Amino acid sequence: MQMKNILVLGGAGYIGSHCCKYLADQGYAPIVFDNLSQGHKDFVKWGPFIKGSLHETDKLIKVMKEYEPVAVMHLAAFLSVGDSVTNPSGYYNNNVVGTISLLDAMIKCDIKNIIFSSSCAIYGQPETIPIQEFHEKSPINPYGRTKLIIEHVLEDYETAYGLKSVCLRYFNAAGADYQSKIGEDHSPETHLIPLILDAALGRINCIEIFGDDYNTPDGTCIRDYLHIMDIAQAHFKSFEYLLAHGKSLRLNLGNEKGYSVKELIQVVKDITGNTFKVNISARRPGDPAKLIGSTQLAKTTLNWQPQYNAIDEIIRSAWEWHRKRFSV
Ligand SMILES: NC(=O)c1ccc[n+]([C@@H]2O[C@H](COP(=O)([O-])OP(=O)(O)OC[C@H]3O[C@@H](n4cnc5c(N)ncnc54)[C@H](O)[C@@H]3O)[C@@H](O)[C@H]2O)c1
Repeated sequence: MQMKNILVLGGAGYIGSHCCKYLADQGYAPIVFDNLSQGHKDFVKWGPFIKGSLHETDKLIKVMKEYEPVAVMHLAAFLSVGDSVTNPSGYYNNNVVGTISLLDAMIKCDIKNIIFSSSCAIYGQPETIPIQEFHEKSPINPYGRTKLIIEHVLEDYETAYGLKSVCLRYFNAAGADYQSKIGEDHSPETHLIPLILDAALGRINCIEIFGDDYNTPDGTCIRDYLHIMDIAQAHFKSFEYLLAHGKSLRLNLGNEKGYSVKELIQVVKDITGNTFKVNISARRPGDPAKLIGSTQLAKTTLNWQPQYNAIDEIIRSAWEWHRKRFSV
């Protein structure tokens, strides 16, 4: 039997490449479309690769006609909160204008199922923890706003054109499928776990903690980390849900557990056996003390169960990847 195709926008990136691995394991062929602005050609291992940008509507239509994908997974975006504040034009252009180009190509080709990478950044400062899906959406930076805008665009495209979508609001992706030689490699890196691992490898001089006077047990910010293969599994289950039920969903994806910056640093020290300098500096504006997501809805609706709950397991997989990729 011929394998069914799924088009993966941003499939050469961190989360996208793990989704491709998972799809291939389930018997699907991931077709990667990525402009490599951030992605890595060596992460594309499970299907064809087309180099192109979201903005190239005609090229997207050609690819969709050629491969006839049963669904689209859309992970292609810029994702640095800080950059989005200094370069909103680039962020709205890439994440919003680019996505509309993709959606228009899908409508032209009569492809009606999309799984979209949203973010917990759409909620802004949380009023209740754990954050549930109905929590007020009040993003505090352009990055979060680009994600919320697309959630609204998807509602309107469903009403007008019948496009069904699952928006997955990730908290923090972490870990790696290091045996497949894929993992987290953003440039410049802004995510906490790879930065701490960089400090452990001696690639940076010290790790910076932005504020240790928050209202948390050790004074540092608390975040929710989910293993990358659990995120990939949720993408696949969302796809199955769309095919089976034809209904759109908005779901948080997290671990429902929070770890502070200081706790993560300690776990990295324990796992690597390396010591490094830690510097406390001022709080960054807009950093909430605590971000933890409720993921009950994803669990019950998708029948999704995270497999990697323990933070040391998550960090160990990230470390295995990191030291092989970046050791000199
Ligand atoms: N990493 C996280 O913790 C996290 C958390 C919440 C949401 N997200 C979202 O998940 C998605 C994937 O994140 P990631 O960590 O894998 O990032 P990533 O940068 O590793 O992957 C994004 C990929 O999209 C590609 N891309 C960007 N703009 C493009 C364009 N215009 N045309 C074609 N390709 C383009 C990049 O080259 C890259 O390969 C993003 O949409 C991000 O906003 C990530």
